[in-house]
Amino acid sequence: MSDLVMPLFFDETIEEAVPIGSMPGQYRYPLGDAGAVAERLQRAGLSAALIFGIPREKDAAATSAYDEDGVVQKAVAGMKAACPDLVVITDVCACEYTDHGHCGIVGETCGGGMDLLNDPSLALMQKIAVSHARAGADIVAPSCMLDGMVGAIRTALDGSGFAEVPIMSYSTKFASAYYGPFREAADSGFSFGDRTTYQMDPANAREALLESEEDAAEGADILMVKPAGLYLDVLAEIREIGLPVAAYQVSGEYAQLKAASALGWLDERKCALEALTCIKRAGADLIITYYAEDAARWLHEEQ
Ligand code: PBG
Ligand code: ZN
Repeated sequence: MSDLVMPLFFDETIEEAVPIGSMPGQYRYPLGDAGAVAERLQRAGLSAALIFGIPREKDAAATSAYDEDGVVQKAVAGMKAACPDLVVITDVCACEYTDHGHCGIVGETCGGGMDLLNDPSLALMQKIAVSHARAGADIVAPSCMLDGMVGAIRTALDGSGFAEVPIMSYSTKFASAYYGPFREAADSGFSFGDRTTYQMDPANAREALLESEEDAAEGADILMVKPAGLYLDVLAEIREIGLPVAAYQVSGEYAQLKAASALGWLDERKCALEALTCIKRAGADLIITYYAEDAARWLHEEQ
């Protein structure tokens, strides 16, 4: 149970929790619920959450992502005030905050097309990570897959007095179609292109390992494989690097179990626990899953 991490969405434009249609059982929460949700997770026996924000304003430079009164910053403060012992991890990325929906600063590249610009995007990630740490985040989790991302964030955190804040890098993140439901949940669909230029080809295991090795060399404290269930071979290999490894059971993995069990075609509890057990078996130290709360309850009942 102590290895389960619950993802949460906070939306600063709402007053009451709103169910996420493509992810039954999951909600966007208003900021006013931050303390109560934190307490609920702790009561369920969980010890960590991963926070995403839906801001009121989006622009090309993702300025609301590093606003000290931004949605994630306020959510973290609210959760930590209620539950100082809950480990609050923040997703450091720009796709919920840019009007075009990409994960950083976009512009014309040397190749001529529109794509993420590495250096301006790194500077943005530094600002976001420091603002999260300032708000009280225990761990920052950069997810944009930019070159040099972990090293840049490490330097920025160290230089701002947050040398003790660890980095959980989305080090091996595949360009997966299983993120579909999340994009509705976090309102982070993109207006042009896709993410295949900065996320990884699902067919390429060697590159997957290299990406995680690079992040380890840049000072990542925890590595991550995402999605989880379809990539257990990659997870097992990355574990050999020697750092703690997190596996992210993503929105599509959750949605397919939810849909099939709603139709009576699968036993939800058995299938979900089997999936989580196998992710564990492959070597995950932490599992980020929308099933965290249910699984904690189920495991408690079985004891
Ligand atoms: C974006 C981000 C995504 C997820 C976590 N962080 C979506 C994406 O890369 O398009 C997906 C999580 C999920 O599907 O549950 N920074
Ligand atoms: Zn992103």
